[in-house]
Amino acid sequence: MEFAGSHILSVHQFERTDVERIFAVADRMGPYARRRRVTRVLDGAILGSMFFEPSTRTRVSFGSAFNLLGGEVRETTGFENSAIAKGESLYDTARVLSGYSDVIAMRHPVAGSVAEFAAASRVPVINGGDGSNEHPSQALLDLYTIKSELAGRGRGIDRLRIAMVGDLRFGRTVHSLSKLLCLFERVQVTLVSPGELRMPGEIVEEMRRAGIEVIESDALEASISHVDIVYSTRIQEERFGTQAEADLYRGRYRLNQSIYTHHCEPNTVIMHPLPRDSRDHARELDDDLNDNPNLAIFRQTDNGMLVRMALFALTLDVVEQVDKHARDVNWYTAGRF
Ligand code: NCD
Repeated sequence: MEFAGSHILSVHQFERTDVERIFAVADRMGPYARRRRVTRVLDGAILGSMFFEPSTRTRVSFGSAFNLLGGEVRETTGFENSAIAKGESLYDTARVLSGYSDVIAMRHPVAGSVAEFAAASRVPVINGGDGSNEHPSQALLDLYTIKSELAGRGRGIDRLRIAMVGDLRFGRTVHSLSKLLCLFERVQVTLVSPGELRMPGEIVEEMRRAGIEVIESDALEASISHVDIVYSTRIQEERFGTQAEADLYRGRYRLNQSIYTHHCEPNTVIMHPLPRDSRDHARELDDDLNDNPNLAIFRQTDNGMLVRMALFALTLDVVEQVDKHARDVNWYTAGRF
C-alpha cells in the first residue's frame, strides 16, 4: 500500500510486504525510543489525539511516539469534554479537528465510527480501537513482539502456534491479530474461551480460508501445552449489558506460574494487550508470573512505541528524513531499556 497520507483503519489494508515495511521502519526507531538519539523530524507537526473510551497505553504511547519524532500533541479525552456531548456529528468534528492537526489518532466505543470519522477528515486518521471491531496498531505491535520474541529461538511468524485465551467475542485486539495472521504461512491458532465468548464466526472462517489451522476449545490447560505464544485477554466488561453478566466469565481462565510450569513448553511466551485485570475475582494473568522471563507484556508496550513511531513516519512520509534531523541525547538515560 501507499502509506503517505493514508488512514490506518483496519489490518485488512495490509499485504504481508506492508507489515514487513512497518517492522523494518520500527527497527530503525530503536535509538530514538531508547533515548540514545533525539530527532526533530516532525518539528511543527500536530497530532490530534481523540480518545472517547478509557485508555492509558494506546493514548500515551501514540502521544509519546509523536513527541519522540519532534511533534506536538493536542488531546481530547471523553465525550463529556467534547462538543460531541452537545450533539455535534462525527462528520463536523472530523472537518474541524482535521483543520487543527496533521494526523489524528482516535478511539471510539462504536464499531465503524473511526472509519466514518476518517471519511470526513482532511488528514490521516489512525484507529486506536473502534468498539469491539479493530485495533490495528495493537495487532501490529503484538505481531512485532511475536517476531522478536521468537527470533532468538530460530522460529518465525510462519509456522507460529498461538493460543488466544479469554474474551474472544468482544476483544478487538484478538480480532485484529487473527486477521493479520492470515498473511502468514502454516499458522496454527487455538481459540480458548467460554462458549458464549467465542471468536466471531466470520473471523474464524476468514482464518480457515487463509489456510490457518483453527482449533476451538473451552479448556485452558490442554490448549496451552503445545504453543509458542499464550495470548491472554481481559473480559471486556464495558461491552456487556451488566456487570453481573461479565462476572460470569471473569476469573474463568487464570494463567499463573504453577499452571505455566505444569502445562506449557519451557519457553512459551506469555502475552496480553493489557490492562490485565488484577482484581481478585479476575486475575487472568497472575502477578506471580512477573519474574518469569517469558512474560513479554512489558516488551509489548515498549514495542508499541517503535510501531507507532513507524506508523507516523510512514503516513507523514518522513522515514528517510528521521536520521537527518537527529542528534545524541543530552541527559542521563542508562539502564532504562
Ligand atoms: C486493549 C483495548 O483497548 O482494546 N487495550 C489496549 O489498547 N492495549 C485491551 C483491553 O482493554 O482489554
